[in-house]
Amino acid sequence: MTSEKLEREAIQALRRSYGEVGLPEFSKDPFELFHAWLKAAVETPVIVEANAMVLSTVDGNQPSSRTVLLKDLTDRFSFFTNYNSRKAGEMAKNPKVSLLFPWYAMERQVIVFGSAKKISAEASHEYFQSRPWGSQIGAWSSEQSADLDTREDLEIRFKEFAEKYPEGTLVPTPPHWGGFEVVPTSIEFWQGRYSRLHDRVRYTATPEGWNVKRVNP
Ligand SMILES: Cc1cc2nc3c(=O)[nH]c(=O)nc-3n(C[C@H](O)[C@H](O)[C@H](O)COP(=O)(O)O)c2cc1C
Repeated sequence: MTSEKLEREAIQALRRSYGEVGLPEFSKDPFELFHAWLKAAVETPVIVEANAMVLSTVDGNQPSSRTVLLKDLTDRFSFFTNYNSRKAGEMAKNPKVSLLFPWYAMERQVIVFGSAKKISAEASHEYFQSRPWGSQIGAWSSEQSADLDTREDLEIRFKEFAEKYPEGTLVPTPPHWGGFEVVPTSIEFWQGRYSRLHDRVRYTATPEGWNVKRVNP
């Protein structure tokens, strides 16, 4: 590990020129465009975890963000987590969230605003049962977001659950683990363009359907 720091000038000089290719004619349905961008991200090898999204929640007036993985896409965005985690506690008090898909290698970003709610226990169970055994035992072992004295404590809990639910047997779905789905109220697409004249297109949900508008970059 080097102790060399990046000086301010070096950080300020980090600058890329964005492309000529803009947003194509956009449809009335943001999910058509979202699916096309997600598929393109999945097929772009330099993008790792194309389904990673930054979930922001709020605790009173303090926002907090973390990455989670998109695991289902209908007219909602779904992810799985620990229902005792910090994020779950915050969403229980205030379901308003934002999601950000950071597809920098494609000069793209998508930001979703919406409300999060738990999915059914059956749907969580179905997904949990499709996970690899190690991830299942990990979900039992981790008291996500709680303080942990030592790494060893976590490893011991893993071993205990691994003995309780050996590989090859059915691992029950933990009651503290499951999915959330975000019902979007707005979805904004950002495509980098030359001279910082980026394309921004925002879809807003209305009772009549999606309203679509360009926004200044
Ligand atoms: C690439 C990546 C994917 C992640 N996916 C998930 C996920 O799907 N679910 C989850 O609970 N945590 C996931 N995490 C961990 C979270 O970012 C976070 O550390 C954890 O959920 C605890 O968050 P909280 O204490 O704010 O509730 C992921 C982290 C990274 C870097």
